[in-house]
Amino acid sequence: MKASASANSNIALVKYWGKRDAKLFLPHNGSISITLDGLNTHTTCAFSDKLAGDKVDIDGKAVQGAELKQASAFLDIIRGMAKTKARARVVSKNNFPAAAGLASSASGFAALALAAGKAAGLNLDQKQLSLLARRGSGSACRSIYGGFVEWQKGSKSDGSDSHAIQLAKPTHWPEIRVIAAITSRQAKKIKSRAGMAQTVSTSPFYPAWKATVEQDLDGMRQAVMAKNFRMLGQIAEHNCLKMFGTMITTKPAILYWSPKSVEILHAVMGWREEGLECYFTCDAGPQVKVLCLARDEKETSQRLLALQDIEIIVSRPGGDAHTVSRHLF
Ligand code: DP6
Repeated sequence: MKASASANSNIALVKYWGKRDAKLFLPHNGSISITLDGLNTHTTCAFSDKLAGDKVDIDGKAVQGAELKQASAFLDIIRGMAKTKARARVVSKNNFPAAAGLASSASGFAALALAAGKAAGLNLDQKQLSLLARRGSGSACRSIYGGFVEWQKGSKSDGSDSHAIQLAKPTHWPEIRVIAAITSRQAKKIKSRAGMAQTVSTSPFYPAWKATVEQDLDGMRQAVMAKNFRMLGQIAEHNCLKMFGTMITTKPAILYWSPKSVEILHAVMGWREEGLECYFTCDAGPQVKVLCLARDEKETSQRLLALQDIEIIVSRPGGDAHTVSRHLF
């Protein structure tokens, strides 16, 4: 059977940073994100006994090497669940530049979990899909749900309690805007996966990260439920800077920000002093995501674009990952 799915990317307000089990993608800490309607992946999958190996195409390019191995290892989990040996054909399209560090792995593995699960004849509910997507890329477990989402880290060694839940639907707080400022389209040198492993093993600040993240999660849950934008922004910024604190103190140091990224951070802090309420957050890359409310979307976008040499993508809280009838092959 052929099946297609659509999933949105997400931006973490309290970050997933560090694994306690690399094989099962189990995190040291919980995380909270907003699912983004502007950054979407559409994926079609079909299994066939006639294929000699998995064939995966992303944005018109055949995936090879380590990336193909990763996709095949993920498809192996689904084959194991469905008791089949058939190889898969996968075609995937992002509506944003995949290499630009806008969390294409989150929407990518969420869409693949849903499309491949359905194509293999599995009928998985959202919790099962979140558990599955996690094993392709940790942050993908959050992209199964729309709106405001928490990945509960769980405590079991088999990972069966480490999955996302929805804190609130997108309609709970539709005024939130996330403006992604793309400062570079080059693929980053160190992927999040390697960056977080190096941080856990070498940063002297990692214990401080772990010791303070529960407090950030508590505050963020409250901010989301009460729709307190100032609280949400302040915690998101602090949590992002704390994550960067652990990254820049690894051995050797990892510095994902470019001069342009830092320029945007200064600009956002300055605009806030002038009364424009916006906050920043960044993932493991040079792009900056600026959080604001609908009333300030236009002004914030214009000010960002005036900084030159950046592109912006504006998102609102997006919906759940879902199957679609339009197939890509
Ligand atoms: C900084 O989910 O890409 O974006 O689980 O190794 O695939 P793997 O890592 P990934 O890491 C995301 C890290 C982050 C923070 C976040 O999204 O929570």
